[in-house]
Amino acid sequence: MKLRESGMPEEAYWASLLDVNLILDRLGVDRTLRSVVEMGCGYGTFTLPVAQRISGILETVDIEPAMIERTRQRAREAGLSNIVCEARDVMTDGFGGVPESRDACLLFNILHCEDPVRLLTAAAQALQPGGWLLVIHWRYDPATPRGPSLDIRPRPEQILGWAEHTGLLEPAGPVLDLPPWHYGLRLKRTA
Ligand SMILES: C[S@@+](CC[C@H](N)C(=O)[O-])C[C@H]1O[C@@H](n2cnc3c(N)ncnc32)[C@H](O)[C@@H]1O
Repeated sequence: MKLRESGMPEEAYWASLLDVNLILDRLGVDRTLRSVVEMGCGYGTFTLPVAQRISGILETVDIEPAMIERTRQRAREAGLSNIVCEARDVMTDGFGGVPESRDACLLFNILHCEDPVRLLTAAAQALQPGGWLLVIHWRYDPATPRGPSLDIRPRPEQILGWAEHTGLLEPAGPVLDLPPWHYGLRLKRTA
């Protein structure tokens, strides 16, 4: 099932709302990561820069075949061979691949979904013990130029509460400011 309010505006406009390098720097996305899985690649806005930073494979999934095709095309054009794209419904089929194996899982702009505890649980199950769950979301602020309706938009403390509820994740550091419009969280998969 496609998650609520998870459609995308035009590609260049979406990219203009995000400081991708600053976000990935502050989240600690670098060569220490060998295996990463991403929920909802969209246009590949983060997929390509993440693949360029890590030392291994980035698996990415999206329920929309058009988003997968666009991300594949961009990866081909950029000459990146470490991106594996798959059309997949994470809510019904999980992340796939080898469970409990990844160094990091990315949940970017998606935790306003209907069942965030279920999504966080699936993400945690994709991670090896000690692996990183990296989250970004729109600030809870009516001035943001995009983002889901405020009545379903999660604040950082709500996400931390849901993560605790999974019994598989613990916070690892403060809430990150990701200007102009986002915040971020780093959580760790417990043993
Ligand atoms: C708001 S966009 C964010 C895209 C990307 N993470 C970013 O921040 O640039 C959410 C993406 O999740 C995808 N999506 C929605 N429901 C999904 C599901 N059940 N399984 C996999 N992908 C899904 C949408 O198609 C969309 O591309």
